[in-house]
Amino acid sequence: MNSKQNYTVEILFHERQIQKKIFEIASQVSKDYKDKDLVIVAVLNGSFIFCADLVRNLDVRCAIDFIQVSSYVDIQSQGKVQIISGFKEDLIGKDILIVEDIIDTGITLEFLIREISSKKPKSIKTCVFLDKKCAHKKEVPINYSCFEMGNDFFVGYGLDCNGFFRQLPYLGRIKEFDK
Ligand code: IMP
Ligand code: MG
Repeated sequence: MNSKQNYTVEILFHERQIQKKIFEIASQVSKDYKDKDLVIVAVLNGSFIFCADLVRNLDVRCAIDFIQVSSYVDIQSQGKVQIISGFKEDLIGKDILIVEDIIDTGITLEFLIREISSKKPKSIKTCVFLDKKCAHKKEVPINYSCFEMGNDFFVGYGLDCNGFFRQLPYLGRIKEFDK
């Protein structure tokens, strides 16, 4: 896939469906983290919209931190995760919830769990917007997930294809076509 090609995007979930699901997940998170020392770690760039909606639906005290990682150059994983910008919060003794746009192979989340574990938190859980369950290559615990998906390439609602489509308010699936 390259930037000169044309794409169409098939809409899979509209804003209203997404918001309904996020409200459900946020209610569960609020319940589970009552009386805990919650630190949300949002994984940039992909989770910026999901995380913003999730935290605004939370009914529990939390701090929010960001980590920026990169693992993809195109639609295929490089299988290598790099930290571009790291944690600002002190994670020692905290209850960490990693918020990620999508789990595909699980390489990114496995890496992040390892990184965060080294900061000596009290607990680590994961929350993903999309779970490509059939694509997992690593065994990573997924504690909260909005939608289980097949092995397609998704865009919108924060997810990109080569940096584009993140701003779409809905979730879509890329359909490629050449002129
Ligand atoms: P993993 O390390 O293979 O689990 O990949 C995780 C990262 O790959 C995600 O955080 C996304 O940034 C990116 N990714 C994987 N699948 C898709 C997709 O369908 N659309 C957009 N980004 C994706
Ligand atoms: Mg990502």
